[in-house]
Amino acid sequence: MKVLRLYPPPGREVSAIYEDLDLPPTGRRDAAGPYVVINTVSSVDGRTALEGKAAGLGSRIDRRTMRTLRSRADAVMIGAGTLRAERLSLGLDPADGVPQPLAIIVTNTGDVPLEEHLIVKGGQEILILLSDAAPSRVVEQLRKLAPVMRAPADSTGAVDLGRALLALKAERGVQSLVVEGGPGLSHALISHSLVDELFLTVAPELLGGAAEQTLTLLRGPTLPARDRPTLDLLSIHLADGEIFLRYSFPKDRT
Ligand SMILES: NC(=O)c1ccc[n+]([C@@H]2O[C@H](COP(=O)([O-])OP(=O)(O)OC[C@H]3O[C@@H](n4cnc5c(N)ncnc54)[C@H](OP(=O)(O)O)[C@@H]3O)[C@@H](O)[C@H]2O)c1
Repeated sequence: MKVLRLYPPPGREVSAIYEDLDLPPTGRRDAAGPYVVINTVSSVDGRTALEGKAAGLGSRIDRRTMRTLRSRADAVMIGAGTLRAERLSLGLDPADGVPQPLAIIVTNTGDVPLEEHLIVKGGQEILILLSDAAPSRVVEQLRKLAPVMRAPADSTGAVDLGRALLALKAERGVQSLVVEGGPGLSHALISHSLVDELFLTVAPELLGGAAEQTLTLLRGPTLPARDRPTLDLLSIHLADGEIFLRYSFPKDRT
């Protein structure tokens, strides 16, 4: 399979996408919180799920790229909605040859179908992130499934994501975090200026669908103009018609 790096110029063939990726990038290691990247896939018409699942989107190369990102991170995070949507793994294959990242699931309700939906790769640790405001009944139920980390609550009673990220670095040594969605968690992180980079795969597909079924990269209110980031394009790769875009967020947001 031919992989081309199209941007920055000059374009050239490379052996793999993001092969030289270093997370966090040199120079960011002394930041208070982890370096946070979102990795997501959409169709050309901007849809991020097909019949409620993301599994049908993206090629084998996209899955390889997802594992490359995981292999560079200390932890992989998803919102509970993504886990409820389908059976998935947040780990690496033994052939990847690096330790498993910590798998973090963020929830408010505690509806986290770990046993049914999470495929746990050998040796991978799981952590459920829950706010201090969660009822003790929910905490007790979740503790039977996996270790729970309590984080300060925001004004709505949900996890204060900024403070949770600081605690993940201070208490769990998470210096680099890959967030694999879904659109609700990605929106929450971006609207609080907590994201450093976005990795977006555009799969060469058109899915269509009614507006109310059309899930895009972010689920939540329109970002107010003052919080709407202008992204910097870092790189473009192309493999078999699929495009891999890497953007950074403005530095003064984090
Ligand atoms: N194309 C892609 O790359 C991609 C990636 C991932 C998911 N998806 C698709 O996205 C869909 C799911 O969307 P979604 O928006 O429901 O997914 P999500 O972002 O994974 O889940 C949203 C849920 O995350 C939890 N959450 C988010 N922020 C929180 C906070 N600050 N504090 C506590 N909990 C918080 C809440 O869980 P509780 O409801 O439990 O409180 C919330 O309802 C599925 O169809 C899935 O296939 C697509």
